[in-house]
Amino acid sequence: VATYRGDWTETFRPDIPSPARIYDALLGGKDNYPADRAIAEKVLATEPASYVGVRQNRAFLRRAVRYLVAEAGVRQLLDIGTGLPTAGNVHEVAQGIDPRCRVVYVDNDPVVRAHALDLLHGTDNTAFIKHDLRDPGEILADAGLRGLLDFGAPVAVLLVAILHFIGDEDDPRGIIDRLLEPFPAGSYLVLSHVTADSRPKMAEVAKLYDQATSRFFVRTRDEVQALVAGLDLVEPGLVWLPQWRPGPDTGLLDEPGRSLTYGVVARKR
Ligand SMILES: C[S@@+](CC[C@H](N)C(=O)[O-])C[C@H]1O[C@@H](n2cnc3c(N)ncnc32)[C@H](O)[C@@H]1O
Repeated sequence: VATYRGDWTETFRPDIPSPARIYDALLGGKDNYPADRAIAEKVLATEPASYVGVRQNRAFLRRAVRYLVAEAGVRQLLDIGTGLPTAGNVHEVAQGIDPRCRVVYVDNDPVVRAHALDLLHGTDNTAFIKHDLRDPGEILADAGLRGLLDFGAPVAVLLVAILHFIGDEDDPRGIIDRLLEPFPAGSYLVLSHVTADSRPKMAEVAKLYDQATSRFFVRTRDEVQALVAGLDLVEPGLVWLPQWRPGPDTGLLDEPGRSLTYGVVARKR
């Protein structure tokens, strides 16, 4: 009967919508509850392009992981803001190319943790740790991470559709620096970030999350650019999601702003 009581990060609170479950509902997943679906419906009613935006985000994530492992030679990935399991999870894409890839997942949502532990049971070279992105020191000190990642080799830090849940007061740029700091040059950062630049209604969408476990902060292109300043941007740089190394199946290239989201892969000097 802990349900409906207590801290959402520790107890099961289906009554409070959470970003992971709202996103799952937007993707047509099954790991969400009426409170999450109510917000997802309002998101779609306020800005219908959200439907394609979240799907473009998953496709960008898969393309970026494929690039990192198959082309850039990265063999360890730190995916913060894992989300609920869906098609083409990071370890499946990475280990599908090279089973030796080591993947550490991090999320602060206990429902994500439950599903991740279930999914990863018996999977080699993969771990889930529950932490908040705002505590990079705790993430990097976690024994589960330290048991898997080699700090002497490059890592790819994935912050895909998570930094818009971090307000400026929590210093997103400082968080990126602290996460990359212990890893060598040639490490990577993958970022996707929702904006209101193409669709002003996204500011209203962001407001819908005031009732959720986390607020939502859209940023402009310049603000997202500032988050990766000092890193070398991999071609084609900071672009709308479908424009980032599109594949034969990538849609929306005629109207890329409908993805509502910028994407970038950057390399530590
Ligand atoms: C929109 S989902 C993105 C999932 C996945 N990265 C993707 O792009 O498909 C955002 C995820 O970030 C997690 N998240 C949000 N704020 C967080 C924080 N401060 N610390 C850790 N995880 C957080 C949520 O629980 C959710 O699973």
